[in-house]
Formats: sequence, structure tokens, C-alpha cells
Amino acid sequence: MKDFNYYAPTEVVFGENSEEQVAALVKKYGGTKVLVHYGGKSAERSGLLDKICGLLTEGGIAFKKLGGVVPNPRLSLVHEGIKLCREEGIDFILAVGGGSVIDSSKAIAYGVPYEGEVWDFYLGKDKATEMLPVACVLTIPAAGSEMSEASVITNEDGDVKLGYSNNLSRPKFAIMNPKRTFTLPPYQTAAGVTDMMMHTMERYFTKDDDMDLTTDIAETMLRSMKDAIFAVLKNPEDYRYRAQIMWGGSLMHNGLTGCGVTDDWATHQLEHELSGMFDVTHGAGLAAIWPSWARYVMHENLSRFVRFAVNVMDVPNDFTDPEGTALKGIEAMERFYHAIGMPINIKELIGKDITDEEIKEMTRKCSRNYQHTCGQLKVLKAEDMENIYKMARG
Ligand code: NZQ
Ligand code: ZN
Repeated sequence: MKDFNYYAPTEVVFGENSEEQVAALVKKYGGTKVLVHYGGKSAERSGLLDKICGLLTEGGIAFKKLGGVVPNPRLSLVHEGIKLCREEGIDFILAVGGGSVIDSSKAIAYGVPYEGEVWDFYLGKDKATEMLPVACVLTIPAAGSEMSEASVITNEDGDVKLGYSNNLSRPKFAIMNPKRTFTLPPYQTAAGVTDMMMHTMERYFTKDDDMDLTTDIAETMLRSMKDAIFAVLKNPEDYRYRAQIMWGGSLMHNGLTGCGVTDDWATHQLEHELSGMFDVTHGAGLAAIWPSWARYVMHENLSRFVRFAVNVMDVPNDFTDPEGTALKGIEAMERFYHAIGMPINIKELIGKDITDEEIKEMTRKCSRNYQHTCGQLKVLKAEDMENIYKMARG
């Protein structure tokens, strides 16, 4: 069993009235002048942005607003945010939105006290030793950034999407009101659940499979999300199941399902090239890659794939044919993706055939110019990445 540190310092404030506490929470964590950072339109349309700004004003907290974060958040807006924060003497960043807004907030927060170029953290050239505090009002359960140490940014110069992880960036608090997710379209809801399930699957498919408690927790969470998604697709205003999904998104990426195991993350790294190149929704990109990745690597730990098939996907265990059982689990996952409106290959994801040149380019980027591997269950070299992209082309 792998030794581990479990560090989840974010204060979670969950429920219908959670937003009311925003000003008190900002003060508690030392904010005196806040950057309220948000996305395109959803937080404006729903009235959430006005509500948060009104509560900050009532609480006597000065703030500036910066909107315009897009899914697969861009480095150029991060630069704009850094400049604004420096000019205005901002000391706290409040993200109102989903993973993209939170990740953009984290990047700005790294950049404000840093003399160099913030992108260097994402390139692995330097490590942040300080940053502004970040907190969030979450509007879409998916990325898990509200409790995670990660931030994923796209540099438009070359369409390169890279993540940077640092425990400093775990949000100080996360306000989560499941009612705020009622307005999510079915596609975003399903892509979000796909992403959160994958955060746990990246940790579940491992060679260190002797931490039984982590495995049991992971399976329970995966089953819960599988049930909850159908309930909210049927009734988007189902508070009970919106709440399961919202809390599930945090628990599945705050490290809990990674305790004692070595995590993989190959599906995520393969996907980041897809969303970097085609600007697709991250969760949908994961669904397009995972079945091919699973078929490619399953022999590295077949019993794990059998266990997944039986305990998560309800496939009857054919004890005489473990490979057949494992494959049926992967097929069941494909049926699940289709049932919630997700793609199972790249053609379904981008609506056209991907070219050999595009696959080569994604392989080059994913392998950082053929210098890096990805994954742990099977360590993938560039040729493996290319093979998986080809299997996934559809
Ligand atoms: O921009 P607006 O108008 O707000 O619309 C957003 C956006 O178009 C919409 N939305 C959000 N809340 C809504 C809503 N629409 C209606 N009602 C609401 N309540 O949803 C769309 C997607 O938002 P986004 O923030 O992009 O979604 P998500 O949370 O899935 O974040 C995706 C980003 O997170 C990264 C992904 O790579 C991607 O860039 N990830 C971050 C991770 C982390 N920091 O730990 C881990 C993940 O694996 C992931 O890589
Ligand atoms: Zn993800």
C-alpha cells in the first residue's frame, strides 16, 4: 500500500442558503478587496452574480468584477486578471462559476505576487511559493477544482492545454448550493458527471489495489453518480440528486479516492490534447477516450477491470472468462455514456473524422515532443498514445 498525505483544507458550505455567508467567509479568510471572477453568461442570467455582489457590498467588502472566462480557460484573460489585481490592490479572488472560472482564478492568484511569467508554472519551469487566497461559489459540479490542488489553462498560442498542481491553490472555502445547478443543460450535466466519475476511475485503475477501503469508497461513489445522473436528466430540479452530484464532484477529486493508491491520469492527459485542439467539453472528451484506453491497458490488472464490471456496472461475473467479463464492463460503460448523451469515440465527439496528422500532433503534444510518458497502470509511450487515439477515432 502506498503511503499518503490526505490534505483537504477547503471549508465547504453546502445547501440552499449557503450563499448568504459569502461576505463573512471572505472576511474570515482575510479578504479586504476582492476580484469577483466569472464566466460567460450563466451567472449573470441566473441573478447569482448580482446576489453575490450585493452581499459583498452589504458586508462592506470592496470588489472589482472580471468576467469572460470560457470553458478551457485562456491564458490571455489570466494575464488581464493579474494586471487588474495589481492595479487595484486586490488581495482575494472569488470565483463564481465552474472549473474553468476556478482554474482561471487560481492562475491569476499565482501570477499576482510572481515576478516571472505565470505560464512557467504550467510548463514546469518553476514552482509557486505564494499566491493570493482563492475561494469559490460553485455553479457546476464537474472538475472538482473547488477542493482540488489543480488548475488547467489553455495557452492560445499553440492551443496548448496544461495543468499545474500545488496544494497552495486549494480554495479557502467553497459555497455549494445545489439549486444553482438546476439551470445546467443536460449535456453539461452529463459531461460533468462523466468528469467526476473519471477523477475516481483514474485512481481506481491501479496496480496498488490493496487499499480496500479506498476501493469500496470509490465503487460506492461511482454507483451513486450513475444513479443520480438519470434522476436529474429526468427532472433537472430534483434537489436531492442535484445535491448528491454536487457533493460527489468534490469528494471524487479532493484526494479521498486516491488514498493509498497510485493514480493514473492517462485518460485525462490524452483528453487535454483533444480539448486543446478542438475546444470540446472536457467531460465529453474523456468519454470519447476512456473505452479505448481501457481496452488497451486492461491486461495490466485484469482483476481490477473484472471487479469494476461486476461491482460498478452490474455485469454478471463469468468466473471462467475474466477477460470476457472485463470487456463486458467496458461495453456497459459505453452504453452508460450513450444513455446520458456522451460520445464513446472521437468521431462522435467532434462530429467528423479526425485526420492522421491531427492524431500525430496530439501525440506530439501529449508526449511533450516525444520526451514524456503518461499513465501508471500502463506507462504509455508516444506510440501507445498514438495507438489509443487511433483506436478511439471511431
Ligand atoms: O460561461 P457560462 O455562461 O457560465 O457557462 C458555463 C460553461 O459554458 C456553463 N455553466 C456553469 N454553471 C452553469 C452553467 N450553465 C447553466 N447553469 C449553471 N449553473 O457550463 C459550461 C462549462 O463550464 P466550465 O466551468 O467550463 O465546466 P467545468 O466545471 O467542467 O470545468 C471544465 C474545466 O476544468 C478543467 C477542464 O480541463 C476544463 O478546462 N479541469 C480542472 C480540474 C481541476 N482544476 O482540478 C480537473 C479536471 O480534470 C479538469 O481537467
Ligand atoms: Zn477531469
